[in-house]
Amino acid sequence: MNSRRATVADAAGITSLETEIFGSDAWTWSSVLAELRGSDRIAFVATDQSDLLGYVSGMRTGDSVDLTRIAVRADRRRQGVARALLAAVDVEARAAGVAGMMLEVGAHNTSAIAFYTSEGFVQLDERPRYYRDGSAALVLERPGGFETRGSQAHPAPQPPVVGTSGG
Ligand SMILES: CC(C)(COP(=O)(O)OP(=O)(O)OC[C@H]1O[C@@H](n2cnc3c(N)ncnc32)[C@H](O)[C@@H]1OP(=O)(O)O)[C@@H](O)C(=O)NCCC(=O)NCCS
Repeated sequence: MNSRRATVADAAGITSLETEIFGSDAWTWSSVLAELRGSDRIAFVATDQSDLLGYVSGMRTGDSVDLTRIAVRADRRRQGVARALLAAVDVEARAAGVAGMMLEVGAHNTSAIAFYTSEGFVQLDERPRYYRDGSAALVLERPGGFETRGSQAHPAPQPPVVGTSGG
């Protein structure tokens, strides 16, 4: 398994995985393209040869990265793919002087909550009736000082000393 930065050439594969995993809540091809093209975006894919196993996308906002999506093909879960993707975002964000991460996750999405908890995220807030179906979201945060299992395997570059407020 490899992870690399996502490019617009990955848009079709990501859109197809989106539909497979998120059904009617899936991002359209044009929203995927917007995620890949935005200058404030960080997106990675995990691949096995030419097979797309999963992807992650986030948006830099001030001192942290807002994770907008992370998803792994159902038949390749619990093999460390999401952990590797999150570590890739972490390395790139820290290199840009941004160390913290935030996200919203469905309050009933137990797999994702277990994943984020295992990666050091803690609950900051709960937003009732956040989604279209009336269900709640949890707001999770990982403060900048957290060292991931992934970043131990791939040491993160130190953020610049001058001109950042992250970390
Ligand atoms: C959440 C998701 C991305 C996790 O991907 P993954 O590649 O299976 O996760 P990893 O293998 O890297 O898991 C790392 C750790 O997270 C925890 N974890 C992950 N999935 C878990 C689950 N279903 N139950 C309990 N713990 C889990 C475990 O501690 C795991 O380590 P371990 O396997 O050594 O015990 C995947 O389940 C998924 O794609 N879900 C559907 C999409 C989704 O809901 N995305 C989040 C909202 S955008």
